Amino acid sequence: MNFKKEDSSSFFSEFIELLKNSPTAISSIIGFAPPFTILDHVGEILKLSSIKLLLGSQNIHWLNSGSHTGEISPIMLQDLGVNFSIIGHSERREWYGETDEKVSLRTISAINANITPVVCVGESKIDYNAGQSKEIVLSQLKSSLNNISLKSNFISGSQYPSLIVAYEPVWAIGGIAAKPEEANSLCKVIKEYLNDNLGQDVPVLYGGAVDPNNVQSLYAGDSIDGFLVGGASLKPKIFSEVITLCS
Ligand code: PGA
Repeated sequence: MNFKKEDSSSFFSEFIELLKNSPTAISSIIGFAPPFTILDHVGEILKLSSIKLLLGSQNIHWLNSGSHTGEISPIMLQDLGVNFSIIGHSERREWYGETDEKVSLRTISAINANITPVVCVGESKIDYNAGQSKEIVLSQLKSSLNNISLKSNFISGSQYPSLIVAYEPVWAIGGIAAKPEEANSLCKVIKEYLNDNLGQDVPVLYGGAVDPNNVQSLYAGDSIDGFLVGGASLKPKIFSEVITLCS
């Protein structure tokens, strides 16, 4: 719940200027998921950007239309050129009644609409302290991704993944990042689960307090393919540093 139209205009003019000559930015897949109120505005800015930047939403409904006051459908998102949707973020799970069942419905609807679902999973501090991280994450994956089958790694006719999973330990979001070994080991568990159950090599992101000081050591491991960045993505200079450090 950050940024009005004006804030996003000044953000992107600085951000694009900072990254326009960066080989890492050019060879990476970078996307922004702004609030629904500025999705159209940001989409228009991204269309004119000299570096490729994808547009994402922070949620997606499972129905295409109907009497669902306050919801946003896949067709509406397609209309704005949305490439990906964040699904099941822990803030939605914790405060807005999001369940694995709804995550599953949303994920299927995104896949059907050729919008990449970025499905978030992650354990709470209590689960972490109890040594249950792996069990919780696997159970979230199992129920969030049931009934999902992927024909290929990529959305047909594009180079964008048909599914992305983000491992975001709830205790790390807006706090202190997981240690690189811990983050990589959970991402490895997730990758193996996805390979075994979906038969595809699904990219796995880490999220939770990623910033320019920790991104290199997190990325140095074998199992993190990219990052879901919150606070550090709100300042052009800091976010551009996070990106250029991922080389
Ligand atoms: P953070 O947020 O990077 O500020 O911890 C991550 C998120 O909200 O997904």
